[in-house]
Amino acid sequence: MSAGSSGGRTPLIAGNWKMHKTIAEAEEFIAALLPRVSSLDRVDVAICPPFLALQAMVDSTRGSRVQVYAQSMHQAASGAFTGEVSAPMLTEVGVHGVILGHSERRQQFGETDRALQLKVPAAFEAGLLPVLCVGETEEERERGDTERKLRHQVQEGLARVDVSRLGDVVIAYEPIWAIGTGVVATPEQAQEAIAFVRALVADRSREQAEHTRVLYGGSVNPENAAELLALPDVDGVLVGGASLDAESFAAIAAAAG
Ligand code: PGA
Repeated sequence: MSAGSSGGRTPLIAGNWKMHKTIAEAEEFIAALLPRVSSLDRVDVAICPPFLALQAMVDSTRGSRVQVYAQSMHQAASGAFTGEVSAPMLTEVGVHGVILGHSERRQQFGETDRALQLKVPAAFEAGLLPVLCVGETEEERERGDTERKLRHQVQEGLARVDVSRLGDVVIAYEPIWAIGTGVVATPEQAQEAIAFVRALVADRSREQAEHTRVLYGGSVNPENAAELLALPDVDGVLVGGASLDAESFAAIAAAAG
């Protein structure tokens, strides 16, 4: 069964550039990417550039199948929050979605579950598609605490989301031990955790959970993408390192199309 057929959910292939690429480098990337993904069918392709390249990428992808997402945002629409960017500011630029709760933001920049509780509905309110990231550390997995961690992060992150919108939320399961390490989760580990994440959404609404896209992230590359995307509950991938090169990112997208 292909990823595209699982529950009728369109797979999402999202490239998280992190703090990489100037505007000039982003333009070079997108010029190389667009012809490589133009003929793909039944797959959503998104790039997540740094804030300063968002406007340029929205302009350069207009009329194409590539969507542009931000990597983070503040929960308030405006206010005294030096250095932050709000959801309405992203919508104004034409951004389609936003990554929330990436483990790097949680670990290095103090992003909390409490803030994420507000960020997910704030993204919806502004018309942005939220991609909520969750995942356990290596120690948590070894202790047998993976499900406890996922339950906490998913329940907290979605606590203030109206039941009617749960099917529109995207959740990215990203085991922290797999991010940027070259150690990808086994298909069994990915499927088990992602099915568990979907079951957590189903605790609130079985019907909505059929529509919620749950992605895998952590050391995805063109060699391992097809196997992950073929898993019944995996609805796409969030790609870091391998999304920086247009050819390898396009190859991952092609594995879903
Ligand atoms: P990686 O990063 O693909 O480089 O492991 C994934 C992520 O952090 O989203």
